[in-house]
Amino acid sequence: MQTKTNRLLYLSYADVTRVELTMTDIIESMERMFRAKGEGKTEMPPKPGIHPGGGDNFIHAMPAYIPAMNSAGIKWVSGFPENFKRGLPYITGLLILNDPATGLPIAVMDCEWITAMRTAAATAVAARRLARPESSTLGILGCGVQGKTNTEALNVLFPLKQVRAYDVNPEAVRSFAREISPRFDLEVIPVDTPKDAVTGCDMVVTAGPILKKPHATIQAGWWDAGAFASLVDFDSYWHPDALKETDKFCTDDVPQLRHYQEVGYFQDIPPVYADLGELVAGKKPGRETPAERTIACNLGLAMDDMAVAPTLYQRAVDAGIGTWLPL
Ligand SMILES: NC(=O)c1ccc[n+]([C@@H]2O[C@H](COP(=O)([O-])OP(=O)(O)OC[C@H]3O[C@@H](n4cnc5c(N)ncnc54)[C@H](O)[C@@H]3O)[C@@H](O)[C@H]2O)c1
Repeated sequence: MQTKTNRLLYLSYADVTRVELTMTDIIESMERMFRAKGEGKTEMPPKPGIHPGGGDNFIHAMPAYIPAMNSAGIKWVSGFPENFKRGLPYITGLLILNDPATGLPIAVMDCEWITAMRTAAATAVAARRLARPESSTLGILGCGVQGKTNTEALNVLFPLKQVRAYDVNPEAVRSFAREISPRFDLEVIPVDTPKDAVTGCDMVVTAGPILKKPHATIQAGWWDAGAFASLVDFDSYWHPDALKETDKFCTDDVPQLRHYQEVGYFQDIPPVYADLGELVAGKKPGRETPAERTIACNLGLAMDDMAVAPTLYQRAVDAGIGTWLPL
């Protein structure tokens, strides 16, 4: 029975950023979540999607429940690759958080910032197990939101010194260098070819557009022995022969990967070695030798968002941030 006291907290993009959760906080929340996932103590169906306008546009529904974090909810997130032509972000959407005890919605929040940060934190959680701990050189292909947040997240866990930055849009590289270099005290080297952001790098992050049919720019022989790669844009950037040079191809959720394969993505990828839950829960070893080439192809999970949203909500409540709305 609805009462007059039922209400929810609305957090706009500006409200969400004002909470000032740090990347370190988010990485630790993701660690807890992936451990619970590895122990089989989470619930998350593969994400259904619709595709307005066709092409590579999507809007996905992403529900998840993480009992250990008292978290339940759903993200409704859009990815529209052509949005930049309208001056709009690639990724936009809303997240609804529910009270797991009653099912009532307790918050609605903008999900752009959470998506930017938790995706990068998932790269870091994977890299902690799959990259060489002394990794100091990072290649970024696609210097937008994910290029920046992935650099931030890897800088939390690794002794980064140099970032080689490539983007088809030179202004994106300039903006990346202007922001990242002073903020994290890193040497940012703009490079003119994708190969220069791959060869010679300890870690490589590809974060351009997600395409059903990969442009497959990165060729076999480009990435070094001992390197780690995070495929934020799925397999779009990688030629299948380059992917097959990996010793360990990991993902964040196998059922979701299979779901994507059924709808036409990932048509030529190596066999999956482990999911991130298995690595974090210690069920499978990560990197075992310095020479292995390792890949994390994280698809982005509803659980990533639900690992972060309750803390964001609670800190917003404590700090008096946001707008209360009646149900
Ligand atoms: N796996 C996940 O969990 C997850 C989550 C969020 C976003 N993503 C994906 O990450 C990608 C980047 O998202 P974003 O929010 O950073 O977008 P963005 O628009 O901020 O940045 C994308 C950048 O890629 C550049 N680019 C386009 N084609 C390129 C190419 N061939 N080589 C190099 N750079 C190229 C663009 O100029 C732009 O600077 C998107 O594909 C998005 O769908 C994945």
